[in-house]
Amino acid sequence: MNSTIDYLVKKFGLVIDPKHPTQIHNVNRTIMAQTLKELGFKVGAEVGVAQGWHAEILCRENPQALLYAVDIWARYPGYKEYTDRISEYYRQAKKRLAPYNCKLVKKFSSDAAKQFKDGSLDFVYIDGAHDFKNVAIDLCEWSKKVRVGGIVYGHDYQRWRRGRSVVDVKDVVQAFVYAHQIRPLFVIANGIRDPKFGGDVPGWLFVRQETDLI
Ligand SMILES: C[S@@+](CC[C@H](N)C(=O)[O-])C[C@H]1O[C@@H](n2cnc3c(N)ncnc32)[C@H](O)[C@@H]1O
Repeated sequence: MNSTIDYLVKKFGLVIDPKHPTQIHNVNRTIMAQTLKELGFKVGAEVGVAQGWHAEILCRENPQALLYAVDIWARYPGYKEYTDRISEYYRQAKKRLAPYNCKLVKKFSSDAAKQFKDGSLDFVYIDGAHDFKNVAIDLCEWSKKVRVGGIVYGHDYQRWRRGRSVVDVKDVVQAFVYAHQIRPLFVIANGIRDPKFGGDVPGWLFVRQETDLI
């Protein structure tokens, strides 16, 4: 185990189950942002920003850190969410994040990843497109940008289909950690209501380690 995992275990009172994902109950997105600050993380990225609500929490709770806010903020073939609002979301994100140490990167996520060196980030939060292919691309491209001891995490640890909306995140994360020998996998159960997001759906998290196959 490394010191980041030790910190999470102590802070959240975790007992790691070697066979199953370890649930972190007493957390929400604001507490996670505070945890990144406590860990001394100084540079990270959010992939999938929309109006910038979560990016603002990351910046506000850790003002010393530089956040790269990555989003295409445009329609593209196959992506069916927010298509009527996405330009307005870009305008809102620009305004909301302007007071902070935040750089907006208006690119397709896999293109944006090319501008970062491997191991150059302390954390990445993945919350872009939620279909199998795009989650897999984001996990592959962005997890290697995080240094050993850094945190890779994201939203929507779920699997469902509703009309045109698809969320395959849980399946992809499970396959990815299995294939890359990443243990432990944490589920961010969001048992504490977040001041901004209220009762949130679960997220997922793992810590980069020397032993992973990323
Ligand atoms: C669920 S929203 C992000 C919400 C944000 N993380 C929050 O919690 O405040 C998903 C965002 O991902 C962006 N997105 C989807 N696919 C993308 C891709 N391939 N590259 C870059 N951005 C993408 C969309 O434009 C949308 O703004």
